[in-house]
Amino acid sequence: MHLTHLSLSNFRIFSRLELDFPRRVILFHGSNAQGKTTILGAAAFLALFTSFSANSDRQLINFNLAEAEPLKVARIVGEFSRGGRKNTLEVRLILEPNGAEGSLRLRKEALLNGVSRRFSELFGQFNAVSFLPQMAKIIEGSPSDRRRYIDEILCQIEPGYSKHLLKYNQAIVRRNALLKRLGEFGGSADQLDPWDSLLAEHGSFLIKGRIELIKQLGLLARESHQQLTQGKEVFRLDYQPSFDPIQPKSGQISLPVETLVDRSGLEAKEIELSFAHELRQRHRKDIQRGSTSKGPHRDELRFLANQIDLGDFGSRGQSRTALLSLKFAEVELMKERSGEWPVLLLDEVMAELDPHRRAALMGLLDKVEQALITTTDVEMFEADFLANHEVWNVKQGIVSQVSKP
Ligand SMILES: Nc1ncnc2c1ncn2[C@@H]1O[C@H](COP(=O)(O)OP(=O)(O)OP(=O)(O)O)[C@@H](O)[C@H]1O
Ligand SMILES: [Mg+2]
Repeated sequence: MHLTHLSLSNFRIFSRLELDFPRRVILFHGSNAQGKTTILGAAAFLALFTSFSANSDRQLINFNLAEAEPLKVARIVGEFSRGGRKNTLEVRLILEPNGAEGSLRLRKEALLNGVSRRFSELFGQFNAVSFLPQMAKIIEGSPSDRRRYIDEILCQIEPGYSKHLLKYNQAIVRRNALLKRLGEFGGSADQLDPWDSLLAEHGSFLIKGRIELIKQLGLLARESHQQLTQGKEVFRLDYQPSFDPIQPKSGQISLPVETLVDRSGLEAKEIELSFAHELRQRHRKDIQRGSTSKGPHRDELRFLANQIDLGDFGSRGQSRTALLSLKFAEVELMKERSGEWPVLLLDEVMAELDPHRRAALMGLLDKVEQALITTTDVEMFEADFLANHEVWNVKQGIVSQVSKP
């Protein structure tokens, strides 16, 4: 798939922007703070419906909008071609008074081809794979960074996943509130049963989705990793579910890291029943700690090269190679699952790659229908690359095509 038009209003630096996109690689070039990353962020928003760079979605609304405006609205409208068919996806971010004096709340709404839809129905319409410098945190950051990474892929490729994730997270908040109340004031632990059922129902879907995804992603990433390291390193993705539907044998406290566990044969129903059982077993413990101790909200994912955990012991170069392999794997996986190449969004990553890895990335650019790339320095790109691809200049929120000799 590829974007054919992007229209922004009041989105970060852009009060208004209208851009027609060719089905090609487009390199956005310009000095710092001109709006390059914002264009990629807008494209990513159409795939994930959340910000990939700002801390919160409300920071995406142009802060120069007059204070007096009662409603502050940012709009992203993307026209894209998917399987030869044109679609229009529109997202609105609306900051509106919420009743309390002076306070505002953010509302998001979305339309597909002019018809208002829930976000859960829109995931997977437009797919993108982003590669940003701050993504090293997938490997080096906290478990929640890794869960977010996996969830963002699954939301795009697994129908229903985003809905289950939302319901699961809502149930966790409610169950935790009840656990705290029971801990403070006492009462029958049976009140937890309805929440246990909900967690088991939605959580089993998340666990099953993660099992399948991590297996498939791991195999694909291993292939590209092998090529990038010329066969010197064997890469592995290791899913470490907080609630493991395959219990370690009795007497064995946890599985050693080198053990390969294949959970892919499990049915969602099996997982649901055993997870519900586990939650029930933990009532007393959970009431004591005031929170839910097991479940996909505490899952972990580890990256290994030659059995070495890259999160703990990887060098910077090893992390970059692993990340690049993962990005290759994501692109292939999305193509396999949806039949369409995702749009590739590369923010300032060429600078971080050595010539060998850069050449590998160029190979990927040849495959996809469209890639949007940013750089502050065109010198980093070969003359050949610049001659054969679109080069656009971004200056203070204005985008213009660079004329070529
Ligand atoms: N809500 C907002 N309203 C208006 N401007 C904003 C908002 N959020 C960010 N900006 C500004 O938008 C500008 C462009 O940011 P962007 O990240 O797109 O720049 P960039 O061209 O990618 O720069 P760099 O090369 O430094 O990465 C910045 O000056 C930033 O301060
Ligand atoms: Mg930038």
